[in-house]
Amino acid sequence: MFDLSLEMLRVVEDAAMASARTMGMGDPNLADQAAVESMRRCLDTLAIDGTIVIGEGERDEAPMLFIGEKVGAGTSNGMTVDIAVDPLEGTNLCATGGAGAITVLAASERGGLLHAPDCYMEKIIVGPAAKGSVDLDAPVKQNLKAVARRLQRGVDDLVVVVLDRPRHQKLIADIREAGARIRLISDGDLSAGIAACVAGTGVHAVMGSGGAPEGVLTAAALRCLNGEILGRLVVKDDAQKERMQAMGIQDVNRIYTTPELAPGIHILFAASGVTDGNLLRGVRFTGDGVHTQSVVMNSSPARVRFIDTTHLENKPDVKVRFR
Ligand code: FBP
Repeated sequence: MFDLSLEMLRVVEDAAMASARTMGMGDPNLADQAAVESMRRCLDTLAIDGTIVIGEGERDEAPMLFIGEKVGAGTSNGMTVDIAVDPLEGTNLCATGGAGAITVLAASERGGLLHAPDCYMEKIIVGPAAKGSVDLDAPVKQNLKAVARRLQRGVDDLVVVVLDRPRHQKLIADIREAGARIRLISDGDLSAGIAACVAGTGVHAVMGSGGAPEGVLTAAALRCLNGEILGRLVVKDDAQKERMQAMGIQDVNRIYTTPELAPGIHILFAASGVTDGNLLRGVRFTGDGVHTQSVVMNSSPARVRFIDTTHLENKPDVKVRFR
């Protein structure tokens, strides 16, 4: 696949700048809308035949970036791209000025990203050193011991990120009993999953259930970072089970591995910080321009780039600051 890294970087950067303007306004929908509209506009300027495979919902639920929507200005070289987006991961975080809101996009050749239904997914995420040591069905204590062994430290040195939800009460109790430390987050298990795979972030694992679409996006990032996510869809009721089966998911209890969630050969993942987080700084507006920080990753050839951009606003005497 032709390298679209810089094009996709522009898409997530623009969405980050648009949504960051709404930071702290207390309106998650407004924040999301700003990111969605910006992403849609920007994608349409690219020379691609893109299809949204993970987006804002079904065609009748979302006005744009809905599943199946065609994006891009078209191409003469027949470059078809599947695109998964989370235009604003952490809408509440942006609305309240909380830490860790990001804009996210993943792309691959056709068929390279699982078309996950909009439901929860039970997840366990670890970085490269602990890859292959965990099992979604194993007791929490056993998994944490395995991770600690791989990281050559005690269980009590580990930090596990968990979404702060009532449904995680037992999981939290089990992690505490195992002796690990916990970072409860109000939102954003996707960026936590990426952080678990980047040394120095102080995150060693992510556990619990979050969005299935976020699970696929996490897998896309982890294909580039050599991390591991194991995920199982959480089926709410029979109607949802039937819907999943109609989507082609025969075994709804199946545990998906990272390459099953994101099987593409050429995976591209891009994210920009909206508010300051563990991994990325948020957007900064200054008199001279706008500063963004992003990560752009490719699976093949494998590359991870952290990119600081100053978006100059056509001023003749603008000053660029080295950070
Ligand atoms: P939004 O970006 O849609 O606000 O989702 C944030 C998020 O916290 C995800 O990171 C997570 O996977 C999911 O919501 C958890 O869902 P819920 O809030 O229903 O527990």
